[in-house]
Amino acid sequence: MADTASRPAILISRILPEESLRLARTRAEVDLHKGDGPLPKGELAARLGGRAGLVCLITDTIDEALLAACPDLRVVSNVAVGFNNIDLAAATRRGVVVTNTPDVLTETTADFTWTLLMAAARRLVEADRYVREGRFTQWELMVLLGGDVHGKTLGVVGFGRIGRAVARRALGFNMRVLYHDAASAGRAVEQELRASATDLETLLRESDFVTLHTPLLPETRHLINARTLGMMKPTAYLINASRGSVVEEAALAEALREGRIAGAALDVYEHEPQVHPDLLGLPNVVLAPHIASASHDTRVQMANLAVENCLAVLEGRTPPTPVNPEVLKRR
Ligand code: GLV
Repeated sequence: MADTASRPAILISRILPEESLRLARTRAEVDLHKGDGPLPKGELAARLGGRAGLVCLITDTIDEALLAACPDLRVVSNVAVGFNNIDLAAATRRGVVVTNTPDVLTETTADFTWTLLMAAARRLVEADRYVREGRFTQWELMVLLGGDVHGKTLGVVGFGRIGRAVARRALGFNMRVLYHDAASAGRAVEQELRASATDLETLLRESDFVTLHTPLLPETRHLINARTLGMMKPTAYLINASRGSVVEEAALAEALREGRIAGAALDVYEHEPQVHPDLLGLPNVVLAPHIASASHDTRVQMANLAVENCLAVLEGRTPPTPVNPEVLKRR
């Protein structure tokens, strides 16, 4: 048993896998919020009072006001690769280390992106409903026809770790891959993945499948809107497993309703957990509840990494995956 006097005090804002909680409890004094939903803001601040570490989820908003109310806080460890729920600038200003969980979820998220893509193209959700409703009474030549995937053009918007992992899977489908990113992937990666960099408009005009893998930033908010949707082929599909607000949902619903694109598959929404009501009634959109990284193994790895990040900072070590490493240098 470790010496409790020297152990840091942390708050874990939601239930984590048992293994991750065990890891945390061996090295820290843990206050665990066991409730079903996120802690209300005031309660989060109260529970954090005097604690140096927070392990939180994307459903927790860590803003300037919360940071100001918790001057003892030294690390905010998000159990997610995305961290748009955290005011990074405010945390950095206040010397609070922010960490995330990249890498461990890359392949699982890429797998699920393909699940979405295939489900949309081949109308899997509609087909499932068709069978359950007792409508499969005979084999039909012209029922539930979808779009082919093999040999088509995949457009990857945001060519980081996950975008590249998605592109790698396209090799097996013999697809042409276009990508759009602020940074070039370089010749070696482009050759390995048989991917070509292009501007967004060309990608949208030429792709049969457009898949989004950008972080949510001011410049990517509503990147897909009525104007950019208008550049897509009427036979094309949009896949989003990044952040909901990269897509203007009302514009997407309208484009789907009017058949201006063939379909979409979404894992994320502008106002989660709410889904735009117009999307709920459309047959040509597959809707998932933000589960792209939700395999048993990956979720455990994410939680373990988040706990390790938090404890490393509090034990005076460099955390494995800091988002604002400049704060560490200041110490
Ligand atoms: C999930 O959305 C994540 O960012 O990991």
